[in-house]
Amino acid sequence: MKLFDVYPLFDIAIDHGKGCHVTDTEGIEYLDLYGGHAVISIGHGHPRYLEALNRQAAKLVFYSNSVINPLQQRLADLLGEASGYDDYQLFLVNSGAEANENAMKLASFATGRRRIIAFSKAFHGRTSLAVEATDNPAIQAQVNQNGVVTLVPWEDSEALARELEAGDVAAVIIEPIQGVGGIQVASDRFMRDIRDLTARHGSLMIADEIQCGYGRSGKFFAHQYSGVRPDIITMAKGIANGFPMGALLIAPTIAPVYGMLGTTFGGNHLACAAAIAVLEVMKDENILANVNETGAYIMEQLKGIPGIKEVRGRGLMIGIEMEEPVKQLRSDLIHKEHIFTGASGKNVIRLLPPLCLTRDEADIFISSLRKLTGVG
Ligand SMILES: Cc1ncc(COP(=O)(O)O)c(C=O)c1O
Repeated sequence: MKLFDVYPLFDIAIDHGKGCHVTDTEGIEYLDLYGGHAVISIGHGHPRYLEALNRQAAKLVFYSNSVINPLQQRLADLLGEASGYDDYQLFLVNSGAEANENAMKLASFATGRRRIIAFSKAFHGRTSLAVEATDNPAIQAQVNQNGVVTLVPWEDSEALARELEAGDVAAVIIEPIQGVGGIQVASDRFMRDIRDLTARHGSLMIADEIQCGYGRSGKFFAHQYSGVRPDIITMAKGIANGFPMGALLIAPTIAPVYGMLGTTFGGNHLACAAAIAVLEVMKDENILANVNETGAYIMEQLKGIPGIKEVRGRGLMIGIEMEEPVKQLRSDLIHKEHIFTGASGKNVIRLLPPLCLTRDEADIFISSLRKLTGVG
């Protein structure tokens, strides 16, 4: 049987990983500044994480959400403490798109309204409503085009106010730092305008923290730089260091009703064990401090490298916009320097490394980049 060929692939098969490095089936080791698309948070093969997974797998991998799962409550307690959202409610799912899908559905339930506002260049996932809220018609099928979502220009508070005045908007969904859109950091003013305007017009604010959240920006959530508290916060990627999981934090003002949301696999025992280990390691190893230090160091070191138009981002979510397309540069980074990076559009290199990246590992990247741009 053939694989359904939807991914343009690098001709590399990763066999194993340790910390911020991965090794392919040929035995070549790579520095991982991509984190498997922002997924690896505490590092590949972390011993405490593996121990927690193995221990739980030997006991119980899965049982359904029709019985009490004490691991879910333990995760909720740790997450409340780590994020500062102890008063919110936790709903567990399996992926980022599923988290956003549920967030928008919940907003519609809670407000009795059916319109969603998203922003230009947004990416919220590939399921029905999540992809309708994504600014890319090429990945929307006709069944996704239901006229539910209005796209508003990024940072345009006046346009947002005009839309909200209609009184039919269930939620405004925003990535506090756009990922696929090229590492665009929403200004504090824009975040506060969204919070004020949604509150004034009876709409909910959803922060999509799937890529920028869970410590990646240097705060637990990227929206916390602006001091706002959204009604719903979605997360996935780094939450379980590679084990598939997603989650919603839901404000106490939104009341649950039996059956309004549900999932077979969401919050299963093995996923919870993985996510608990991630939060324990993040705390014990002071991962947030490392994100801030190493992120600031990279930003500083990038200054003065020729061909860079702009560096954007926060913490270890860094976009390097080059003056020229980055396809060849990324290919050279992988094949000649053995460094994985991500990209956004044609000109932006995206760094989404494991959050335990060290200064020495950052130096390897900086000297490779200097070499490839002709100054090393
Ligand atoms: C901001 C954002 N939202 C949603 C998603 C969708 O997540 P998933 O691929 O887990 O469905 C992504 C994935 O890249 C993302 O970056």
